[in-house]
Amino acid sequence: MRIVKSTKQMQKLALQWRQQGKSVGFVPTMGALHDGHLSLICKAHQKNDITVVSVFVNPLQFGPKEDFNKYPRTLLQDKKLCEQSGCDVLFIPSVDDFYGDDFQTTVTAGALGELLEGASRPGHFDGVCTVVLKLLQQTLPTVLYLGQKDYQQACILKQMVSDLNLPLKVQVLPIVREKDGLAMSSRNRYLSSHQREQALLLHKTLKEMRRRLVLGERQAAVLKRRTKAQISATQGIQLDYVECLDASSMAPLKRLKGAVVILIAAKVGKTRLIDNIRLNVP
Ligand code: PAJ
Repeated sequence: MRIVKSTKQMQKLALQWRQQGKSVGFVPTMGALHDGHLSLICKAHQKNDITVVSVFVNPLQFGPKEDFNKYPRTLLQDKKLCEQSGCDVLFIPSVDDFYGDDFQTTVTAGALGELLEGASRPGHFDGVCTVVLKLLQQTLPTVLYLGQKDYQQACILKQMVSDLNLPLKVQVLPIVREKDGLAMSSRNRYLSSHQREQALLLHKTLKEMRRRLVLGERQAAVLKRRTKAQISATQGIQLDYVECLDASSMAPLKRLKGAVVILIAAKVGKTRLIDNIRLNVP
């Protein structure tokens, strides 16, 4: 596995691969890698000639009171995991190289970027779109691999790829969970063991909503009410939102029908966690 730190060097390599007609799978990450990230890297490795993984904690997507400084940085471990999962090039630019002194052009996510995560984290998705567009220009992939764990992020990035005519495919892969159902996340390591137990409530309530859907409940308001009550009765967890949306447009649904996604976000102590499930409602 080769390690590339310079953005210029990365783009030079990518241009060579393009000339040689090689397919490139790209997995952007912020590091602190876990099995969720590794599932994307393994898939990219299976399907492409070259697999590129970036590890870059992007300052542009963190709010001023968010965890940019304390975001876990585990580069030595990340290198090992990348190598074992079939990564060919690990791209680890520095903030200074990535955003030069006179950097000023950014991407705006649009309406989808204002909802849910975007409402709680103003500017977050503009930061995500900007960094991902730049990373795509530097790595020139055939396929961009993303996780369903960040459902809204995947929708927004698919929209960006389509709106800006980027010549690549986007592949979204399922959420990888711990044995007990907790969605894997780099931020899970902030949780104490008690909070780790409490965090299970996110997945539990999603499963409970799915169960009630299977039993015939179709009203979003009814499904959401029980979840809201259950979470507000638990000390230490603060629900941010639970929403039932159309899986492709992310428009809110009153009555659940067709391809649906249920998204949840909550703070466990100071740690903000998200989870979701996608289902087809007959
Ligand atoms: P990060 O949180 O490191 O996630 C990198 C990729 O891994 C994202 O596509 C995310 O959806 C996916 N992922 C995270 N947890 C997962 C899980 N449990 N199962 C499956 N996939 C999972 O998302 C970001 O970084 C950043 O916003 C980034 C796109 C890199 C831009 O900075």
